[in-house]
Amino acid sequence: MIVARDISEFQRARALLGASVGFVPTMGALHAGHSSLIQQAKAHNEATIVSIFVNPTQFLEGEDWDAYPRQEMHDLAMCQSLGVDIVFMPTIEAMYGSDELAIMAPCKAGYVLEGATRPGHFGGMLQIVMKLLNLTRPTRAYFGKKDAQQLALIIKMVKEYFMNVKIVPCEIVRDESGLALSSRNAYLSTTQKVQALALSQSLHRASSLIEQNQLDCAILKEQILEVLQGVDRVDYAEIVNRNFEVIQTIDKNNTIILVAAYLGTTRLIDNLWV
Ligand code: PAF
Repeated sequence: MIVARDISEFQRARALLGASVGFVPTMGALHAGHSSLIQQAKAHNEATIVSIFVNPTQFLEGEDWDAYPRQEMHDLAMCQSLGVDIVFMPTIEAMYGSDELAIMAPCKAGYVLEGATRPGHFGGMLQIVMKLLNLTRPTRAYFGKKDAQQLALIIKMVKEYFMNVKIVPCEIVRDESGLALSSRNAYLSTTQKVQALALSQSLHRASSLIEQNQLDCAILKEQILEVLQGVDRVDYAEIVNRNFEVIQTIDKNNTIILVAAYLGTTRLIDNLWV
């Protein structure tokens, strides 16, 4: 496994890879959700690249960029054991100049929900994902459905900018209690981990009601909010179509239910694709 820390080192290693390349971009603090993305990349492609970069432009002023868990040894050991070919770990200076073009204003779907709570987040996320895709030139790139809006915006960017890569959406990975895996779970105390179950449980309640044919979003939202009383503060609980527009009635082929909530200062998100 090659660990490339600058662009030319990375490009030399990239030039030696086979015909099909799978790419998993990450911000490190790798967990079983990431290993599932890496395993899928390994299964579908001749070679696999993982990037580890805590991208400053997608964090807002006062968010957790400083505190974001950094576990280089652990992450490299995990990549090694999964058979990754190249780990790309650039510095901020390698990825950004001092006066950059800002070309990515997200569309309508990027200004609601996560985009409303975290203005600027999606612009920074798209900026780094475009840079990473241009550098790594993968055949396929793997993204988790937990960041549903992120995934939708990346698919749109790749289509609209004629980028030659297939984006592969991957299922959410949960621990045995149902908590969606996230690097930010590391911030939670034992009590908060229990409280955090309210997120997945609220989605579970909605899913059971939908199975019983309750399709009225107002009623479903009430039920979701009732379960979410377990958290410290709900940021949003919303039922939308795949364009992230709020809907009144569930369409079983075109609905995502999204929740975001705080446990102390930790903000977690979860969702269910109906
Ligand atoms: O989902 C993430 O970890 C990040 O948003 C990504 C895609 C690696 C871009 O920094």
